[in-house]
Amino acid sequence: MTLHICDHPLVQHKIALLRAVETSTRDFRALSSELAGVLAYEATRDLMLEDVTVQTPIKETIGRRVSGKKVGVVPILRAGVGMLDGVLAMIPVARVGFLGMYRDEETLQPVSYYEKLPKDLSERLMLIIDPMLATGGSASYAATVCKERGAHKVKLLSLLAAPEGVERMQTDHPDVDIHVAALDECLNEVGYIVPGLGDAGDRLWGTR
Ligand code: PRP
Ligand code: URA
Repeated sequence: MTLHICDHPLVQHKIALLRAVETSTRDFRALSSELAGVLAYEATRDLMLEDVTVQTPIKETIGRRVSGKKVGVVPILRAGVGMLDGVLAMIPVARVGFLGMYRDEETLQPVSYYEKLPKDLSERLMLIIDPMLATGGSASYAATVCKERGAHKVKLLSLLAAPEGVERMQTDHPDVDIHVAALDECLNEVGYIVPGLGDAGDRLWGTR
């Protein structure tokens, strides 16, 4: 498993805005989407290409296009949905599946309530998207579901990660690369990322 931390200055700038408690719901949504697009761009660096003939207004030339079955995107409800637009802006033809789960507040274990994935996952790069990799329970479960449905190549895109979540993914899914905008310090006593950004779902959707 490789952990990719995006150290681009614009990403670090946007992450600081995202963390700030005074950032509005509207700005939080925009920032989540923009950051997700950058992570998707980085996570698809190793897509296979094939040559294609292109007629420009000037002459015929050889261009390159992504080959094969391409990409599937799986937001983890609810907060992962806030990253979806940004990923689709980068990869408009991606198939989209949804995994609904929430963390039990006492046990911190994921409780699954919805699963709807595209049919043929075996030849696709599957990008699981969730802004918060905390204990790693939700992301690990999502990767397991994707693999059970036939996925061979899975990556995780999160805005923030705790070391505990990275370790959990390394143990459960050593074949799943992780792309994050920042690696934080630790989890607090109720399983929130420190310094983090609070509850991603509540901040995105204006609930609380
Ligand atoms: C948050 C977040 C992740 C999960 C991360 O969802 O969006 O899915 O917690 O925690 P973990 O790494 O410890 O599993 P939450 O459970 O708050 O559900 P919600 O998005 O519906 O609010
Ligand atoms: N889920 C969140 O929304 N925030 C955290 O810090 C941890 C899990």
